[in-house]
Amino acid sequence: MVDVVRHDVVIVGGGGAGLRAAIAVVQADPTASVALVSKVYPMRSHTVSAEGGAAAVAREDDSIEMHGYDTVKGSDFLGDQDVIQYFVEQAPKELAQLERWGCPFSRNEDGTVSTRAFGGMTTKRTWYATDKIGFHMLHALFQTSMQYDNIVRLDEHYVTKLLIENGQCGGVAALDIRTGEMKAVLGRSVILCTGGGGKVWPFTTNGNIKTGDGMALAYREGVALKDMEFVQYHPTGLPGTGILITEAARGEGGYLINSEGERFLTTRDYGVGKKAELGPRDMISRAIMLEVRAGRGIKLPGKVGEYAQLDLRHLGEAHIDAKIPFVRELSKIYANTDPVHDPIPIRPVLHYMMGGVDVDIDGKTSIGGLYAAGETACVSLNGANRLGSNSLTECLVFGARAGEHCIEHAKGTAELSEAALTAQAEAESGRMDALRGQKRGSETVSGVRGAMNDVMEEGTGVYRDQERMSKAVVDIAAVKARYDDISLSDGSRVFNTEILAMMELRNLIDVAETVATAAVNRKESRGAHACEDFPTRDDQNYLHHSLVTRSESGGPVFGTKPVTLGKWEPEERKY
Ligand code: FUM
Repeated sequence: MVDVVRHDVVIVGGGGAGLRAAIAVVQADPTASVALVSKVYPMRSHTVSAEGGAAAVAREDDSIEMHGYDTVKGSDFLGDQDVIQYFVEQAPKELAQLERWGCPFSRNEDGTVSTRAFGGMTTKRTWYATDKIGFHMLHALFQTSMQYDNIVRLDEHYVTKLLIENGQCGGVAALDIRTGEMKAVLGRSVILCTGGGGKVWPFTTNGNIKTGDGMALAYREGVALKDMEFVQYHPTGLPGTGILITEAARGEGGYLINSEGERFLTTRDYGVGKKAELGPRDMISRAIMLEVRAGRGIKLPGKVGEYAQLDLRHLGEAHIDAKIPFVRELSKIYANTDPVHDPIPIRPVLHYMMGGVDVDIDGKTSIGGLYAAGETACVSLNGANRLGSNSLTECLVFGARAGEHCIEHAKGTAELSEAALTAQAEAESGRMDALRGQKRGSETVSGVRGAMNDVMEEGTGVYRDQERMSKAVVDIAAVKARYDDISLSDGSRVFNTEILAMMELRNLIDVAETVATAAVNRKESRGAHACEDFPTRDDQNYLHHSLVTRSESGGPVFGTKPVTLGKWEPEERKY
């Protein structure tokens, strides 16, 4: 028999959104109990690796209106404007509160919070902590969560299934990684906060844990994934490793140069105008790709390809060490380059998924009691292209809102049948037993995963076209079939990382399938979806969200949903 634990709310994921949601639940109802289930110890969540900062209006030359407009324009008019309005209004309150919880934001001489420039923003509105905001933000949230005895952590537990009864979500089946035992973690509301699925692609800033778990869990239960075709390539990753060199380096004044030493964003027309290096990420990533195509890239051997360079030399050692010390540290260790003396090699790298679990402004999905927040979710803040530094704030604003709404739901909802929910967890336990050390065909986890990576890089890169996207749809279905032929070698229960990799791969493939499906169905170019055979935006036919749901037989079904417009009318997006 599986162990059964019962709480009011179950939160899956212990990063920025999950911790913020947990705090919101217990602040809204001090009697509520929360299970915080995470496959890693919370301080190892991917939020920890955020570098540049979090956006919110803080300066007198800024306004809520300006932040709203920048976000709408950055989204290429695919963001929902009611969501964006709420976000920009809440953002300053959330960041001020985070500071009171202990986040050491960098400050000006006069003691006010210091803000820096970020891409696509009209003024300096990114709050930062040198270039380690994720580390400090996560610490502040984690230590705050520990003040509440009623937030009960289940660290190193991997959720394999949502427990659904009569169309309502009543908990999760969670594998205790340390023991290999399955638990039924029951609650009247569940929030998915597991981050994105960057590991669908081979070259990414994302840590290995970003395997689209929450997206796939919801998808398999019939919830639509929204706007999955929009994936963000960050312009400045280190070639080879994909390690992030923060946009803060450009916010502090860094230049991008090509093999001729030319600052190409100022000398050629890539749509970013005077913003140059502080244009939005989609446009800058494309500019780098076009420089390489034009023969002005710098070649590296093997699969690493060609790259451009980020030049910080003119900023000087003192400024680099004061404002972006981590950039220097990473460049020295992973690119053998000291940016004080030499330009850093960089190239676009998969960084973030604008799409995710379709939720409303409260974080609610189409299944009763099931919520999502953070990168896992698509609340439609970011539309077709996210502005750098909006996502940490998104975790706070919409993590809090999902937390507040889900405890209301939990209080007003009767318990589901414990027997029925536990039976599903029992079945999951049996499935794990069968999976451990399973002997099927000649496929391996790494082989199938590599094949998926290749398909998605080829079909859904910075630039796409119909032929390659259609091929990705077909090829990913073939990869899915290969999954069933994987044999495993580890039959043990304790810390069986092979079985984890197997389950993560299943999630990645499901996510990949939705990305390819949504991409091939958008025959226009908008934001990060740059389709070479349909190079312009087509509001007449495509000013809508994409939805991909799972059919009874397991395949993807495509649909659409209207965008919530508002005071900002769609217009040509130029800077
Ligand atoms: O470049 C960066 O620091 C990334 C920030 C973000 O994705 O928001």
